[in-house]
Amino acid sequence: MFSVDRGQFGPNFVFGTATAAYQIEGGQIDGRGQSIWDTFAATPGNVKNADDGHMACDHYNRWPEDLDLIRDGGFDGYRFSFAWPRLIPEGTGAVNQAGVDFYDRLVDGMLERGLKPFATLYHWDLPSALQDKGGWMNRDIAGWFADYAELVAKKFGDRLHATATINEPWCVSVLSHLLGVHAPGYRDLRAAAHAMHHVLLAHGTAIGVLRDNGVKNLGIVLNLEKAEAASDSAEDLAALDIGDALFNRWFLDGVYKGQYPEVLTNILAKYLPAAWHKDMETIARPLDWAGINYYTRGIYAADPARAAFPIRQVKGPLEKNDLGWEIYPQGLTDLLVRVSREYTKLPIYVTENGMSENDDTRREAFYDLHLKAVLDAQAQGADVRGYFAWSLLDNYEWAEGYTSRFGIVHVDYETQKRTPKGSYRAFQGMLHNTR
Ligand code: FCB
Repeated sequence: MFSVDRGQFGPNFVFGTATAAYQIEGGQIDGRGQSIWDTFAATPGNVKNADDGHMACDHYNRWPEDLDLIRDGGFDGYRFSFAWPRLIPEGTGAVNQAGVDFYDRLVDGMLERGLKPFATLYHWDLPSALQDKGGWMNRDIAGWFADYAELVAKKFGDRLHATATINEPWCVSVLSHLLGVHAPGYRDLRAAAHAMHHVLLAHGTAIGVLRDNGVKNLGIVLNLEKAEAASDSAEDLAALDIGDALFNRWFLDGVYKGQYPEVLTNILAKYLPAAWHKDMETIARPLDWAGINYYTRGIYAADPARAAFPIRQVKGPLEKNDLGWEIYPQGLTDLLVRVSREYTKLPIYVTENGMSENDDTRREAFYDLHLKAVLDAQAQGADVRGYFAWSLLDNYEWAEGYTSRFGIVHVDYETQKRTPKGSYRAFQGMLHNTR
């Protein structure tokens, strides 16, 4: 049971759950093309147990049951993603009608159940055919992505409550092209700098196309971390400045101010695409809402031995989830207030928040603390209009495979049986206002 009531969040506050196509759908049939996660997962050493999304939660077949769970939980909205390779198997060109039919049924299924569809166009499953052409490193991706956005606009746009272009551009670029943790697994400064710029250029280009096609309520989902310094020393504070710029400000400044933090354009000068500054107006096209995913904080210390980025993250002392991420609700409050004070007056949605953990009583406590953190942010003036729990189901947690469980509903991957956990019941109790 949560200690907060839904009424405290305001009259039209949207409570929802979130998922992503590759993490739950399975259904690698009916003309779906290959994605970078299929081959990344098949490459030894990239993913725990070499798990892949082949079956995942079989949501491709079991979606009616999953939508029923969301409705029965009392949620108002469902944040899901379209799989680009299911709709356009080669990334550009021919459309896969079976994919269009699937999302037709899914979106209609949400509307029939009174759920507001919050769509994401890109949650990391890039068609492999586009990776062959350089993927996010190739400037042409802005056009490829815009054409895909146009297809979504034409087929589904009038039925979507809200649409985000990209989920977590930091992960798409830095985690996947500099740190090598996610597909395509590059560890290369030039690759990363190109991806960091192109992912935002693709976002802004798609916003133009979506608007021209009459799609309403557009945004982008940024993953932000509360960045803090390991100490008050000048060195660690300088490390914090770089860490915060790389994780948060590159994307916030780009999207909401049309500029990049100078500390990074200095470091990356040699590696960024030429004339990047000419794209900043496109990148900062006006939006209708701001999406924030929040999980934890990052603590930065100076590390002069590391070449371009002389920083390292240090482990903090707080209680952690089972992936070792510190539990820090105050960070959510601080970030929501920071974004609303320094970046935008647009309505803010917490588009993801949740905990990897087998012991669900800890997850329930996590949610309670973070819901209170949202109330604190509202009290400090942040215009927060919604909160989405990550995730509806235990699912394919990328490089962690199926070992990490973020769901409020348990999934037995052998039988595909769904079992609501206590945290689901806690949401249900609050949302049905039974306490
Ligand atoms: C976010 C991702 C989501 C999930 C959660 C735990 O970074 O958007 O797909 O992996 O983390």
